[in-house]
Amino acid sequence: MARKTIIAGNWKMNLLPEEGEMLVVSLKTAFENKKNLEVVVFPPIGLIPFAREWIYDSVIRYGAQNCWHEVSGPYTGETSPELLKSLGCSYCLVGHSERREIFEESNELVGRKSQALVEMGIIPIVCVGESLAEREAAIHFEKIQQQVESVFEAVEKESWIHLVFAYEPIWAIGTGKTATPKQAEEIHQFIRKIIRQKSGDVLADAISILYGGSAKPGNAEELLAQDNIDGLLVGGASLVAEDFSNIIKAY
Ligand code: 13P
Repeated sequence: MARKTIIAGNWKMNLLPEEGEMLVVSLKTAFENKKNLEVVVFPPIGLIPFAREWIYDSVIRYGAQNCWHEVSGPYTGETSPELLKSLGCSYCLVGHSERREIFEESNELVGRKSQALVEMGIIPIVCVGESLAEREAAIHFEKIQQQVESVFEAVEKESWIHLVFAYEPIWAIGTGKTATPKQAEEIHQFIRKIIRQKSGDVLADAISILYGGSAKPGNAEELLAQDNIDGLLVGGASLVAEDFSNIIKAY
């Protein structure tokens, strides 16, 4: 099965409604739809109902940057996968390093969120990655292995096919310092090996693994040319229509 290539824009906590609309309107006409290509934007939660209006006549999909793992209840400020589903989200990011670090999200919590999402038919994009200190201490493989394995422990087997991973080295996020294609490919191969051990060849060859961390028009083509890099999760450059559409065109 050919893997899907996903070019995703994580807007993080940026853009007001009129800015988001301008960005999406420009994107809608800025690239050619291709087989196996999925373009996804992740606006802040308050813009999701607007995104639905901006995007309904386009191949672009949208998703949320985070969710809680319960359907409803006393979780002030949180958003359920059920609500995301009713708002038309196809994807949701989980375990972004900003959430793991600032909001102290554990592997276990990331796993529970992933399971809650697949139950709702929403594809979780599970972010994994190491800090500079962990890379320098040569414990990055171990950390990533734990992050990936805990998802397989939490998500029911029948839904493994719906998982997507994103390797985002923390030292490359928002720093302008991209992992070299060789560094990224090494980790992507490693993640695919873990998936292969957990779930066998069919799933290992079908699950998309994206790269994120200072992806931009100038490095997108080389990153996407790597055998195990199946797309990009773009932060800063996804806020600029020209840059994001040039990244999409690099595929
Ligand atoms: P930058 O592309 O700004 O480095 O952000 C990457 C990221 O965190 C995407 O989720």
